[in-house]
Amino acid sequence: MSEPLKRPYQRHGDKESSAFFEEYLEKIYNWRDGVGLTEMIREMHSVVIEVDEQDRHAYLEELCLMTPYHFKKSYHNEHFIYSLLEVDENSPGYIIRSRKEKDRSKVMPMNMLSPVAMKKPYTKYVGEVYRVTDFEKAVELLGQAGVEFQDEGMVKNSRLQFIRTIPSQYTWNTVGYIHYPNGARQYYVEQFADHPEAGEFLERLRAIKAKQKDLGITGRVLPIDHLATRILQQDREHAMLEYIKLTSYHYWGSYDILDQNSSTNVTRNSYGWPESKSPARVFTASNTPYFLDHLVKLPSPTESFVINYGKRMHHIAYGVADNVKGQDFDNIDFAVDRLKENGVEFLLQVIGSKDEGLKQIFSRTSQLSYLITEYIQRYNGFQGFFTKKNVAFLTQAAGEDAALKKPRMGEGNLSD
Ligand SMILES: [Fe+2]
Repeated sequence: MSEPLKRPYQRHGDKESSAFFEEYLEKIYNWRDGVGLTEMIREMHSVVIEVDEQDRHAYLEELCLMTPYHFKKSYHNEHFIYSLLEVDENSPGYIIRSRKEKDRSKVMPMNMLSPVAMKKPYTKYVGEVYRVTDFEKAVELLGQAGVEFQDEGMVKNSRLQFIRTIPSQYTWNTVGYIHYPNGARQYYVEQFADHPEAGEFLERLRAIKAKQKDLGITGRVLPIDHLATRILQQDREHAMLEYIKLTSYHYWGSYDILDQNSSTNVTRNSYGWPESKSPARVFTASNTPYFLDHLVKLPSPTESFVINYGKRMHHIAYGVADNVKGQDFDNIDFAVDRLKENGVEFLLQVIGSKDEGLKQIFSRTSQLSYLITEYIQRYNGFQGFFTKKNVAFLTQAAGEDAALKKPRMGEGNLSD
């Protein structure tokens, strides 16, 4: 499908937003549609994650076991070593990068502001890249609308163009734009020099993929379903409006998770594609700011996470097949059990049920990426990303995991 969905976009959820949000949401849609950006900015093409170079190989191994991604090749330029992973051309690729000169790190200053993040100062989710049909025009229109871009990593040649924004003030994530002539998908890192990997390491990755197949995880765990970022309470509406301005996504709806003092806010691609082609972007925010916790008297896992880890991506969710030929068991339980037997740790058990439409589970936070992996299996065409009961459990469990790492700046040890 190459035509965007017709407006108005269907709205879901029980949480209302302000009149300001509704007014500017409509204005952004009108501007975006009017100048042609909704039509020009297409699917999520790739996802960029930065890790410490000492963790890069271990993280690639983790991804190869826990996700359908396959390692393709590594590249380097004067700034970074990049590893490219892919499922297929119909879902976003992964670019895992590590910076060569640590004293030039841009993520380190952000991480040093938060007591847990500072323990892994060179590790941060960076952002998503979208494919555009007219690079020059899209960048010009966004620039005219005040969007600022970074020069570092920019690629501009006849075969490929790529640029990314400076990090958002609300999410600390960037949005990139890529264009290449019709045909096979290309990634911006493919313009850089090859970075050969040791044969031993490549052999380990092959063994992990073979094991994943033997375990029956291959084919059950699907590409990315959604990505969820955690933000401060006052940034909820701004973060979504900004993301909708920068992409062709639309506001799908918000759900209040009152007893976890949180809301889950969803934006989705505006082409009606399956999430595997262009995953939903979720923004989770507290309902009240952390400094009122003593008066609100509710747990505050969402804002505690932001304070401990900084504004950052919290989890990346992978779909789980509803049906694998000839099998009548719950694929999510099967895949999670096999992963557990192979050392992957999870928070709680699989929650939800077939009757409720979906089952979900969170892994423990990866100590290599500081990201949680979610698995989500929908039954009988269920349309949502969660049930309120599930999300309350998940939010609470993630909060307890984050709390283990010990909170708040005053208690952190700067020399750790
Ligand atoms: Fe999720």
